[in-house]
Amino acid sequence: MGRLELAVLGLACCLAGVRAAKLGVVHTEGGFVEGVNKKLGLLGIGGRSVDIFKGIPFAAPPQALENPQRHPGWQGILKAKYFKQRCMQITLTQLHTWGSEDCLYLNIWVPQDQKEVSQNLPVMIWIYGGAFILGSGQGLNFFRDYLYDGEKIATRGNVIVVTFNYRVGPLGFLSTGDAHLPGNYGLRDQHMAIAWVKRNIAAFGGDPDNITIFGESAGGASVSLQTLSPYNKGLIRRAISQSGVALSPWAIQKDPLSWAKHIAKKVGCPLNDTARMAKCLKATNPRALTLAYKIPLVGLKYPILYYAGLLPVVDGDFIPDDPINLFANAADIDYIAGTNDMDGQFSASIDLPAINVVILTITGEDFYKLVRGVTMAKGPRGANATFDFYTTSWAQDSSQEAKKKTVVDLETDVFFLMPTKMAVAQHRANAKSARTYTYLFSHPSRNPFYPSWVGADHADDLQYVFGKPFTNPFIYWPQDRTISRTMIAYWTNFARTGDPNKGPSAVPTQWEPYTQENGNYLEINKKMDGQSLKQHLRSSYLQYWNQTYQALPTVSRDGAVPLPPLDDPKAIPVPPMDESSATP
Ligand SMILES: *[C@@H]1O[C@H](CO)[C@@H](O)[C@H](O)[C@H]1NC(C)=O
Ligand SMILES: *[C@@H]1O[C@H](CO)[C@@H](O)[C@H](O)[C@H]1NC(C)=O
Ligand SMILES: *[C@@H]1O[C@H](CO)[C@@H](O)[C@H](O)[C@H]1NC(C)=O
Ligand SMILES: *[C@@H]1O[C@H](CO)[C@@H](O)[C@H](O)[C@H]1NC(C)=O
Repeated sequence: MGRLELAVLGLACCLAGVRAAKLGVVHTEGGFVEGVNKKLGLLGIGGRSVDIFKGIPFAAPPQALENPQRHPGWQGILKAKYFKQRCMQITLTQLHTWGSEDCLYLNIWVPQDQKEVSQNLPVMIWIYGGAFILGSGQGLNFFRDYLYDGEKIATRGNVIVVTFNYRVGPLGFLSTGDAHLPGNYGLRDQHMAIAWVKRNIAAFGGDPDNITIFGESAGGASVSLQTLSPYNKGLIRRAISQSGVALSPWAIQKDPLSWAKHIAKKVGCPLNDTARMAKCLKATNPRALTLAYKIPLVGLKYPILYYAGLLPVVDGDFIPDDPINLFANAADIDYIAGTNDMDGQFSASIDLPAINVVILTITGEDFYKLVRGVTMAKGPRGANATFDFYTTSWAQDSSQEAKKKTVVDLETDVFFLMPTKMAVAQHRANAKSARTYTYLFSHPSRNPFYPSWVGADHADDLQYVFGKPFTNPFIYWPQDRTISRTMIAYWTNFARTGDPNKGPSAVPTQWEPYTQENGNYLEINKKMDGQSLKQHLRSSYLQYWNQTYQALPTVSRDGAVPLPPLDDPKAIPVPPMDESSATP
């Protein structure tokens, strides 16, 4: 390379540096906001950058147990440089609370090229999981990096990423099941954030007609519920549910009053009249309300997921009917829904800890107890039929490994896979312009404490979707970067075009849409090729749950999950739970 060429290169670099596009101050409906422009690449050469806005209010500070309201706006320029506190919630030890009541804020990542500021970019809005009890728009901080940092998705997929906070726990989902405390406050917060993005994102370079919502676990169920709510008509173009849908058995609370009474009793509110109960709960210290609800983790009589009781409800308004009847509202919303091949591993490990310990054995009796817990609605006949169906394969392989896998299969099927298959079938059956896709994520867990047979556990997909193998290259293998690149490509292509294969990001293989006849699903892992598009995942199990099991007489009220005995003090110990544990 000659001197002249070097000089020209140098000049080009510096000119590009000077001309690098950035948003600066942006005008929103509430007033002006200013974020931070972060240069990308070595020394910012190349002129690519990302504009980052943290902590923009999308609603007014909420009143406890009231619907969110529009923000009145502000004077001057709001500096949007730091994440706001999460919505008030119990800590992982369940001994304290953290976060703030004033928490309805969102964060935005906008990728920029060197020349002109981005325009008409697709927009992806993230809804976090955490069993409707925990979580925040930024997620936990690992290795000085927030789990839900939107930068990698935004810059690799050339899309705008938005994350936000919504209320969780009692403050988000307490309900008396009537007009005095209708519930769904957290879902309405989510809707306020989506509507704010629709009204304001053009000023940030986003296309308000190209909004995709995506989420995982309780966030995946939230995504699904938002697509079914009439409140979002015309706001959402596409949606992705990872490991959670509106039909998941832990997504809707059918008996909210029992849980409201449980909390009312703890904080000393009247129990016999919901008007007085609601008035008293609204006047109760929010910290005390938040602490009044704890999830027991040992000595459980029922599977752990039944103890997550503060959930969305059918309120006759935001969720007007049982979700199964609402899929016509998603007829024009393109949809991807999928699960991890061992989504049930995390919850099964709490219900039957021996599955993770090689030297411990489990018996048919242990498994029967678990089966009884998940089939309560159908009584002993349901338990026997389910036990027989799942243990048929033990005749050929009665090894401990096979039995332990059966435990995980049962929880994966009941809590994640079957509800997702039902939701995908409903979406497809009601679709007009919408396309339907489904996947199975199967890259084995990186958790070193798990036995070698464990596949993709609940929440294992998050690190790949958020590009962590690129953010923290030293704790990942190259194969992890391949998976991450693949997932970001499919997800962002889908956000751009409604087809995960079509768009600027190359994908390893064609992902064909699902119909009930073709049963297509894409298996996502480190080695993908033409064989990765598969058909009819666990169809005999789907048939069992959807037909054989359904046909059995129901013994408990409409399949409603009975309230576990939370008042038994022995059932509510203080659990040791470490920061990295995944929660649904
Ligand atoms: C509710 O309980 C309170 C105190 O125990 C009692 O005074 C009141 O009459 C009861 N109200 C109803 C509607 O039963
Ligand atoms: C369930 O199976 C057990 C053990 O085989 C048996 O004793 C019981 O009668 C069965 N119950 C029903 C309702 O089939
Ligand atoms: C479940 O069963 C019903 C009734 O038998 C059937 O119409 C429906 O297609 C089934 N759903 C799936 C996903 O197979
Ligand atoms: C979404 O964005 C893509 C790329 O900018 C564009 O081609 C497409 O028309 C947009 N879709 C809608 C519905 O505006």
